[in-house]
Amino acid sequence: MAHIVVLPGDGIGPEIMAQAVAVLEAVRDVFALPLTYEHQLLGGAAIDQAGEPYPAATRQAARAADAVLLGAVGGPRWENIERSLRPERGLLAIRADLGLFANLRPAMLYPQLAAASTLKPEVVSGLDLLIVRELTGGIYFGQPRGVRIREDGEREGYNTDVYRESEIRRIARVGFEMARLRQGRLLSVDKANVLEVTELWREVVSEVGRDYPEVSLSHMYVDNAAMQLVRAPRQFDVIVTGNLFGDILSDEAAMLTGSIGMLPSASLDAQGKGLYEPCHGSAPDIAGRDIANPLATILSLAMLLRYTLRQEEAAVAIEKAVGRVLDRGLRTADIAAAGESVVGTQAMGQAVVAALREHSRAH
Ligand code: IPM
Ligand code: MG
Repeated sequence: MAHIVVLPGDGIGPEIMAQAVAVLEAVRDVFALPLTYEHQLLGGAAIDQAGEPYPAATRQAARAADAVLLGAVGGPRWENIERSLRPERGLLAIRADLGLFANLRPAMLYPQLAAASTLKPEVVSGLDLLIVRELTGGIYFGQPRGVRIREDGEREGYNTDVYRESEIRRIARVGFEMARLRQGRLLSVDKANVLEVTELWREVVSEVGRDYPEVSLSHMYVDNAAMQLVRAPRQFDVIVTGNLFGDILSDEAAMLTGSIGMLPSASLDAQGKGLYEPCHGSAPDIAGRDIANPLATILSLAMLLRYTLRQEEAAVAIEKAVGRVLDRGLRTADIAAAGESVVGTQAMGQAVVAALREHSRAH
């Protein structure tokens, strides 16, 4: 029996998660999957109800679970509280606590949505890349960090970008393994012309590359990579990079596809246990209005079934159900082209559930 911890979080989190849970129940029925789930608190919701963003009950449940499905955290209500108690700290804490060092962020363009991209269709059509972002190290976690007062009385903020060789090695391996399963091309992104930490990054990635002669490895500075992503994004297969560069480049890659509302992600530990979440945030401005796109969370559930539960057939069924719903022209506001009619969060989720159940009747 597999057990999933569901963390709806804040903003649009609860409403998109309600749809993902409906899909979870449908896929469990259709494929007779032995799985159970429970809800727990993370982020602002946890601050409100338990006084901290990653409470002990959530920590215990997450550690014991096989996988975690997360909506999104954060919002203006919690922006002014003490830094260590903000919702985002809950997200960073659960990543660190569960050792989720490998963050997989695919960016693929659905042919049905080519018009939704801000880039010309001929630049983005067929786009299918994967960003492998290191998630538990680098400047996000490096010590020392803080804001201090200098001797001359001026305030100064500082962070530390630090990577151990072993941390680089294990994320590089994930990059090579993913590239091997795809088109066999791995690009490592760094700033080795300026930052020593990424000079080491480049060296270690190259060393690991000797174990993967079938993968072609190249390197790029992050500024160039940011430019190439909008100039000619189809040149990329798998991109491996550190925590901060991965954060930035994955938002950029997401937008190439037209909607960040479509993109799932997986954060994995060394054993394949994972936390799955949409790439988008909690969008507090549209929360509670039944207009958010639930598809990225639903597709995150598909990744969960694939990578942690090893239920490839069920994962593909969800992805195909999403494809059929798009084929039928259903669009939430974020993916609608001018003139296309729009459905709400619930209607979109229910349409995916219906498409999944049709699949079961057809078999
Ligand atoms: C992300 C987000 C988070 C990050 C924030 C919310 C802490 O931007 O998952 O990309 O920076 O990692
Ligand atoms: Mg981000």
